[in-house]
Amino acid sequence: MPNILITGATGFIGSHLVKFFAKNNYHIIAHGSSADSISNLKENLKTYNIGLENIKFWQQNFLDKEWDYPDFSDIETIIHCAAITKVREGTLENYNKYFNMNVLATKSLARKALEEKVKHFIYLSTGQVFGIPASFPITEATPKNPINLYGMTKLMGEKVVVSLGYYGLNYTIIRPFSIYGEDHHNIISIIVDKLSNNETVTIFGDGTQTRAYLHVSYFCSAVRLINNNIE
Ligand SMILES: NC(=O)c1ccc[n+]([C@@H]2O[C@H](COP(=O)([O-])OP(=O)(O)OC[C@H]3O[C@@H](n4cnc5c(N)ncnc54)[C@H](OP(=O)(O)O)[C@@H]3O)[C@@H](O)[C@H]2O)c1
Repeated sequence: MPNILITGATGFIGSHLVKFFAKNNYHIIAHGSSADSISNLKENLKTYNIGLENIKFWQQNFLDKEWDYPDFSDIETIIHCAAITKVREGTLENYNKYFNMNVLATKSLARKALEEKVKHFIYLSTGQVFGIPASFPITEATPKNPINLYGMTKLMGEKVVVSLGYYGLNYTIIRPFSIYGEDHHNIISIIVDKLSNNETVTIFGDGTQTRAYLHVSYFCSAVRLINNNIE
């Protein structure tokens, strides 16, 4: 089975992708920024009965100036999940961190993928690149007007990937909206926990707010379909 490098494998979506592809007998390099987060990932895999035989680990803080890359010779696909994802922390003080991580680190990795002739670079962007659209449904033609630093730097990350496409990088950009699932604390898990405990659920606003949610298992299957079109 093909070899896949998953960056941000210690995060919510990345860890589910590791479990999904490991169950489907892929060989994986799972990336995380620190020894602690990688050790947490290993524990998480254990609780899901995922063996580590086909998984190697790559620890690298992408904010470091110099990177130690793993052996790229067998990597066919990179799924680039690593990012700074917190919308609310996108302050001016954090500007460099967001830019260096979501734009420059994406550039370094995508460029390395091109140089190493990796077959497919999959970049996880975000629905946040659209900002607040003037009309629905959102389509690919909807103007991209992000309203926060997270969305803006993810959009810049897209542009970096597209620009390397001019030199031959084979890429796919995915713009997920809200993903939910096990091991993630968000509105869905909060509501489910409260209802399971017979607690009152407080909804802010007038209750007419809508958001598009996708379970992480469907997202993982979609990533595999996208990748299969290239394999
Ligand atoms: N979750 C969603 O609903 C959603 C929606 C749209 C788009 N996305 C996109 O999907 C991707 C994954 O999202 P997620 O929810 O899984 O995010 P997450 O749980 O916040 O995970 C972020 C990942 O990025 C890594 N990372 C952060 N700073 C790093 C650094 N300095 N060096 C190296 N790695 C670093 C983290 O590694 P450590 O834990 O090892 O530090 C972690 O593995 C992101 O690109 C995000 O923009 C997510």
